[in-house]
Amino acid sequence: MQNKLQINWDDFLTHYWQKKPVILRKAFPHFVDPITPDELAGLAMEEELDSRIVSNKNGVWDAQFGPFREYDHLGDTNWSLLVQAVDHWHAGAATLIEPFRCLPQWQFEDLMISYATKGAGVGPHIDNYDVFIIQGMGTRRWKVGDRNEHYKQFNAHKALLHVEEYDPIIDEELTAGDILYLPIGFPHNGVSLNESLSYSVGFRTQTSQDLLSHFADYVIDNLPRGIFYQDPDLHLPNDPYQLQNNELSKLQNQMIDLIKTPALFNDWFGQYITQPMHELNIVPVDPPYQQDEFNDKLQAGDLLHKVPSIRILKVGDKGYIHGEKIALPLPIIDLLCRHDTLSYQDLADNATLNVMRDLVNKGYWYFDEDESEEEE
Ligand code: SIN
Ligand code: CO
Repeated sequence: MQNKLQINWDDFLTHYWQKKPVILRKAFPHFVDPITPDELAGLAMEEELDSRIVSNKNGVWDAQFGPFREYDHLGDTNWSLLVQAVDHWHAGAATLIEPFRCLPQWQFEDLMISYATKGAGVGPHIDNYDVFIIQGMGTRRWKVGDRNEHYKQFNAHKALLHVEEYDPIIDEELTAGDILYLPIGFPHNGVSLNESLSYSVGFRTQTSQDLLSHFADYVIDNLPRGIFYQDPDLHLPNDPYQLQNNELSKLQNQMIDLIKTPALFNDWFGQYITQPMHELNIVPVDPPYQQDEFNDKLQAGDLLHKVPSIRILKVGDKGYIHGEKIALPLPIIDLLCRHDTLSYQDLADNATLNVMRDLVNKGYWYFDEDESEEEE
């Protein structure tokens, strides 16, 4: 059964989104945990998943990174297991991100799940992303402070950046179905009062530093010929050692012109933003499907499934998946974005079948049986 989110998005966006934290009580009115602590512990034994165990025993903070082989030595209190991108690997858990698909998907990062024992948490800290923390089983007490760029941060352990004490603007207990929404930059600390599960639906945006650096890489790769500063209207300056304001403007425009060229900016951003942020369950087909074999399977009624949480987006009238442009027209890209499952009827023209065979061979979509062969 899929959990139903009850939220007034207009009200939420107007008052809270990227502005201030809020607790949405019983936003999932009858919340059912889509994963058990045992299943989560099992996933954290796999190499493909990023996982951490954070403990705070007798005031000493520790963090270990997975994959993990056992948990028995950890005892009953003061440790938690955190697993990133569970939506890539667990279909039930992935249903929790469905209600958030109405938000801009280019900003969606992943579903992180944490299991915590009594007294556990990762300590007071500040995150670089916006997050909806859904409370599952158990109870957690959250203390959230106001935004303040002067907070001192320090390493409580080399892998744990904590923040100094702050006055809480929220100090509340969360139980199943409650959501704590936290915009970037608000210090917070969640301490588990018993065995609990928390589900963090994370949204991340890019820094100007990252954007500039990655765009520069794209421009260097795609415009091999230098574009030189030129000033054919030059008059001799009074002070040849002083950069003139109009020269500085021309230099700025030289850079801005590149950014404002849609053929460059859009194509770069489409490739950049669809690159994976966490490992995906992608298995290339080996040996690859020939076109006839591929068409026959679809015609026989086999369905294609999109790899869970693979990044697919539209920029302008182009579509991008997993860091590459899709050579198909926009109406089909629309379909590929919106549907997790495709049938022959969705794809029935030769050009589309051709491109799809290529994407299936790369492992971005798969037939049911490919998955079961994998599991054998
Ligand atoms: C947790 O789930 O244990 C920590 C989540 C957070 O504070 O970001
Ligand atoms: Co946090």
